[in-house]
Order: sequence, then structure tokens, then C-alpha cells
Amino acid sequence: MIKDNHILLGVTGGIAAYKSVELLRLLKKAGADVHVVMTEAARHFVGRTTFEVLSENPVITDLWKDTGSSVAHIDVASLADGAVIAPATANCIAKLAQGLADDALTTTFLAVTSPILVCPSMNTDMYQNLRVQRNLDLLEQDGLHILDPDEGVLACKTVGAGRLPEPWFILDRITAMLNPKDLKGKRLLISAGPTREAIDPVRYISNHSSGRMGYAVAAAAEKRGGEVTLVSGPVDLAPPPGVGLISVETCDQMARAMLDELPRADIIIKVAAVADYRPVHQEELKIKKTVGQTQMTLSMTENTDILKKIGELKTDQQFLVGFAAETHDLEVHARMKMEKKNLDMIVANMVGGEDSGFQSRTNKVKIFSKDGNFRDVPLMEKTKVADIVLDTILGHLG
Ligand code: CTP
Repeated sequence: MIKDNHILLGVTGGIAAYKSVELLRLLKKAGADVHVVMTEAARHFVGRTTFEVLSENPVITDLWKDTGSSVAHIDVASLADGAVIAPATANCIAKLAQGLADDALTTTFLAVTSPILVCPSMNTDMYQNLRVQRNLDLLEQDGLHILDPDEGVLACKTVGAGRLPEPWFILDRITAMLNPKDLKGKRLLISAGPTREAIDPVRYISNHSSGRMGYAVAAAAEKRGGEVTLVSGPVDLAPPPGVGLISVETCDQMARAMLDELPRADIIIKVAAVADYRPVHQEELKIKKTVGQTQMTLSMTENTDILKKIGELKTDQQFLVGFAAETHDLEVHARMKMEKKNLDMIVANMVGGEDSGFQSRTNKVKIFSKDGNFRDVPLMEKTKVADIVLDTILGHLG
């Protein structure tokens, strides 16, 4: 979501400056073009060459001698789609709050017109000092974004608030800051992962769903300002930050959770791969192998089609999206499911291939809408597919 964005990374002189190297690496990996501006004090902790090599851009440390252009700091400030200071010392925060511009970093940041994320990091007593808090309040009132520090053991051996959050989390917050909150005020109900239907205490029927697609949709929706409830079958994924998680195992449990939450939802996206049938009997004791028995038959009974049920209950104000997992005749089956389950939109993907489907990190989907619209989405990361699905939904909602 920040691919091809120009990001300005400010580094000030705190021990956590080493983490900004990792942040730079993650920003580059996400496809951003990064310019770094450092204070003199920051150079006591990390060398400019490290930032120069990793960013593949000149680093600004001095307004007078570093770069070819005498207005390089203005160039990088106006180029920036977003800016971050990590770590931000008490001194830097005070100068920003007062609009001081007495070094390369503060001068450059004064010229930034795009969103700015400030990540304070310092000793707990310094951080809690009223003057620092007052300056942070001023920055917030001015529209800058503040990322609260983590609590933990600090370099000075004290325990408390002041640690710079992990680089992946800072990247997450930069991404959230730069992406429009176009789902603000919308409540999304999303299901993900497989269901498990018990045969006996040790065996179950399930499928290969990893939950990645549904979790990607939930994470993207939250980043775009949506209020997200995620009903998830058993998966090995951490719940996306800010998302309300309801963990379930069986189709029955998923149905109950989804139907309970349904009245509060504006957009329902059913990504889960639900077992269509469950064993008629769930044996209380483990089924033992019978000597001489070479075949066994398991009687199954139909599960509720949750999506179909929601399609019957939904109001005209609710937008309902299904996913279709197909191995053949994708378009025919997807359109039939959309019709049969009264969906507004269906996202169809071929499963069974290596680069799309259940276990893969990428997906290749076709999106069909009730009004006849069609979108062929080429192979890409599931996280990006998630945004395209949300874009398409918003397109329909006007
Ligand atoms: N679905 C559901 N409840 C079920 C089965 C499926 O809610 N018992 C939903 C899935 O979450 C998905 C959509 O229906 O959004 C399509 O699921 P899929 O497994 O592709 O299709 P089925 O309707 O089960 O049909 P088939 O298995 O015959 O392809």
C-alpha cells in the first residue's frame, strides 16, 4: 500500500536509531522510495553510509555541505508523500512543536506538507515530563500523528514507557496514515479460514484454507478506517491489529457468530471455506481400526449454507460479498453462486494451483457483480487483492 510512495525518514539521536535502519529496509522492501535526513546526534549512533546504501539516495545531515543542491532539503520535503521521525528525541519534539529550524532535520520537516508520523523514544521520566507531553499535544493539535512508545526495559535500565515500537509496527502505522480512510463509519463482518467438523475426538473433516485471503481483507479494511469483526476458523495467523476476532471451529459455530453479528454489519464478506457436510455422528470415543475391514463409510449430513442464509436475511442497505473456490468452469459456477445466494458481488479464484488458492500468498481472481460488472485481477499478493476487492465494493456503494 505504500509502493512507489516517496517517504521521508527523519532519524534523531536516540539509542533506538539502530531500529530506523530496519524500518528503512522494510520501507524499501514495501516498494517505497526513501530519503533520509539525520541529525548530528543521530550520527553518533548510526553512520550515514548505512542509510545511504540502504536507501539508494543521498542522506541529508547538513544544510551546507552534503548534497549537490543547496535546496535538497526542500526538494525531498516537497517530494514526500509521507514522513516519519523514528526515533524522535525530546529535543526534536520540542523544536518541532515550536517551529524551530536550526538543523537539517527540523528545517526539512518544516517544509513537509504531507502527513507526518512522530515516534517518541526516550527515558520514561523524560517521556512523562509535562513539557514533553505538552509538546506532543501541540504536535497532535497541529495535525501530526504521534505513535506512543512501547513499555519495557529501556537502554538506561529503567522499566516503563519509552521504547521505540518495532519497525514492522511503525511501517504498519505509516501505511495506515497514508491510505485514505474510505471505510470510516462502515462496519464490516468478515469470515475467514476453514471449518473443522469432528468425526471423533481426534479426527475431523476440513480443507486446505490458510485464512490468508480473509485476514488480508480484514487487515486492509481496518487500515482504511472500517470497524471490522472477523469470524475465523482455526488458522495459524495472528489477528490483524484493531480487528475484533471471534474464533470458531465448526460451520454451526461460524453460522451462529455470523448471524448474531449480521444486524450490525454494513458490508459482509464471506471468505471462509466452509465444510458443506459434517459427519452425522460425532463419536465420543476414538473410532478403532477393525481387523479385516478394508473400507469404511462415513455418513455425512448437510451443513447450513451460511452465505445463502445471510442472502435471505440481508436488508437492502447491506452489501453482501461471497468468495468462490473453483477448480473448473470458474465463471459459470461463480455467477450461479452469486444468483443462488443473493449476493451483490462474488470473488472467484481457482484453487489447486501453486501461485493462487488456499495456501499461497498470492491470488488471481475474477470479480463479478450483480449489476453485470466484471473485473479480471491478475496474479498479485493477497494483501493487494484485498484492497482491490474493497475498492470494488466501495465503487458499488458510490
Ligand atoms: N459458504 C457458506 N456456507 C457453506 C458453504 C459455503 O457460507 N456451508 C460460502 C463460502 O464462505 C463462500 C461461498 O459460500 O463465500 C462459496 O463457497 P464455495 O465453497 O466456493 O461454494 P459452495 O457454495 O460450497 O459450492 P461448491 O462446494 O459446490 O462449489
